[in-house]
Amino acid sequence: MAKVTLKTLADMKQSGEKFASLTAYDATLAHLVNTQGVEVILVGDSLGNVIQGNSSTVPVTVDDMCYHTRCVARAAHDSMVMTDLPFASYATEEQAVISAAKIMQAGAEVVKLEGEGWLPPIVTCLRQQGIPVCVHMGLTPQFVNVFGGYKVQGREEERANSMIQAAIDLQAAGAAMLLLECVPNDLAREITKAVDIPVIGIGAGDATDGQILVLHDMLHLTAGRKPKFVKNYMQDSATPQEAVARYVAEVKDGTFPGPEHSFN
Ligand code: KIV
Repeated sequence: MAKVTLKTLADMKQSGEKFASLTAYDATLAHLVNTQGVEVILVGDSLGNVIQGNSSTVPVTVDDMCYHTRCVARAAHDSMVMTDLPFASYATEEQAVISAAKIMQAGAEVVKLEGEGWLPPIVTCLRQQGIPVCVHMGLTPQFVNVFGGYKVQGREEERANSMIQAAIDLQAAGAAMLLLECVPNDLAREITKAVDIPVIGIGAGDATDGQILVLHDMLHLTAGRKPKFVKNYMQDSATPQEAVARYVAEVKDGTFPGPEHSFN
């Protein structure tokens, strides 16, 4: 696989080819994911839960994200590296540039941040500094204390319409990608159609341009109850390599996610 860039993903959206994304936080697992043809590796702030053992992503810092981005970037020869800007590290345009610059210099090629209607000026400012942005919408885990829990977003018409408008506004502001978490299938389909930029989904049905899962969840390494959208790929695989290869194949042929992993 040639090095994946934003242009690769835009071309894939145009041609209707689905792309696969997984998280990784270290060089060994980034190598595994990279060699199985995953287009996008996310250095997610889910490392706050998965690696650090916290109950949310709130404690994660920019320095944490830089450390893990450096580890992943050394092994991600073909996959594109996207890294989360952590909790409250992009409250103003100035702060967002300072945080994102550190993360880009650590090896990220795109930064991801969470929010909707308030983000366009921040997205534009980052883009003007040469920093591509993916905006994570819907269920945004950094806002768990505002939401009061992890719930499906966009079931009500008013919220659904505001998410569609936010997606259009974020594209106009210069967002390079969108990521939708825990939104009903039909809403994800509408947003994916409403914008030209690639849209990644997690718990957002099968109509998005790409799919993402937390690697440790799909390898069945994380303890406790899993969200509905997680599939255990180790169930029918002899090795983690086989599990990741199967996930990539199922994303590409549209088998994953099935209705049992989606919200209606
Ligand atoms: O931090 C993360 O791993 C994420 C995914 C759940 C999309 O944002």
